[in-house]
Amino acid sequence: MASSLLVCICVLGLSSVAMAASPRKPIDVPFQRNYVPTWANDHIKYINGGNEITLSLDKYTGTGFQSKGSYLFGHFSMQIKMVPGDSAGTVTAFYLSSQNSEHDEIDFEFLGNRTGQPYILQTNVFTGGKGNREQRIYLWFDPTKAYHSYSVLWNMYQIVFFVDDVPIRVFKNSKDLGVRFPFNQPMKIYSSLWNADDWATRGGLEKTNWANAPFIATYKGFHIDGCEASVEAKFCATQGKRWWDQREFQDLDGVQYRRLNWVRQKYTIYNYCTDRARIATMPPECKRDRDV
Ligand SMILES: *[C@@H]1O[C@H](CO)[C@@H](O)[C@H](O)[C@H]1NC(C)=O
Repeated sequence: MASSLLVCICVLGLSSVAMAASPRKPIDVPFQRNYVPTWANDHIKYINGGNEITLSLDKYTGTGFQSKGSYLFGHFSMQIKMVPGDSAGTVTAFYLSSQNSEHDEIDFEFLGNRTGQPYILQTNVFTGGKGNREQRIYLWFDPTKAYHSYSVLWNMYQIVFFVDDVPIRVFKNSKDLGVRFPFNQPMKIYSSLWNADDWATRGGLEKTNWANAPFIATYKGFHIDGCEASVEAKFCATQGKRWWDQREFQDLDGVQYRRLNWVRQKYTIYNYCTDRARIATMPPECKRDRDV
C-alpha cells in the first residue's frame, strides 16, 4: 500500500517536472560581453557602463550589431524598447542567421507605425536558404513604453519564439515531413535598426518622417546561452547534454500551448500557412500547427 502510494507520488512528481518548460531565466550582461557593432558604430551609444545601449536611425544611416560567437542551439534573449512616437517606416530586427548561401535564419522584425498606431511583429524562419514563412501579430502591450524580452529557444526538436514568457510561434522539426530544419550551421545573433519605408508600414504607404529623426531603440539584457561553435562547425560538441536539449524543452507544455493559441486567436494578422492566394499548397510543416 505505502509503496504503491509512493510510486504514484513519484510518477506525478516526474510528470510535473517534465511539464515545467520555461527557458532558464536570462541573465543581464553588458553589451561588450557578447556583442560588437556591425556597421555605423557612431550610431550606437553606451549607457550605464554598456549595460544598456541605444541604436539610432537618421536619414544618413541606421546601425546594427552582432554576436562575437556563433552558436548551434541554445537560448538567446534581448530586452528591447522600440522606437517611441512616430516610428512609421522603421524596422527594428533581432535575428539569428548562419553565414552561408543556403542559410538558416530565425527572425523577429518589429515594424514601426504612426504615433498611437500599433506596431506589427513579423517573424520568419529560413531553412537551407528558403524563407517565405512570415507570420504577423499585434502585441498585447505598447512595445515602446517599457522593456520587454524577445527570445529564441532552439534545439533539435523545435524553435520557439517568445515574447516575455509567451510563446508566439513554434517551428517544429518536421524533417519527417521533408522540411529542412536548422541543425548543422552555426548562427550568429544580430540586431539592427533601419529604414524600410518601401514596405514596412501599411505595406509602404506610410513613409518615414525624417523631421522626427533620430529614431531611437533601446536595448539591454544581451543574454546568450548557447553551444558556441566555429562558423564551419557541423555539430555542437555538447549536443544533447545541455539544459535546452532535455525533454521538458522538446515540446511546449499545456500552459504554453494555451498561451500560443491565445496569441493565434487574438493577435494574429497574417500566417503564411493559411495564405492560399500566395502559397497554393499548404507547406508541410503547417500541418503540425493544426494539431495544437
Ligand atoms: C499601423 O496602423 C495601421 C492603422 O491602425 C494598421 O492597419 C497597421 O497594421 C499598423 N502597423 C503597420 C506596421 O503597418
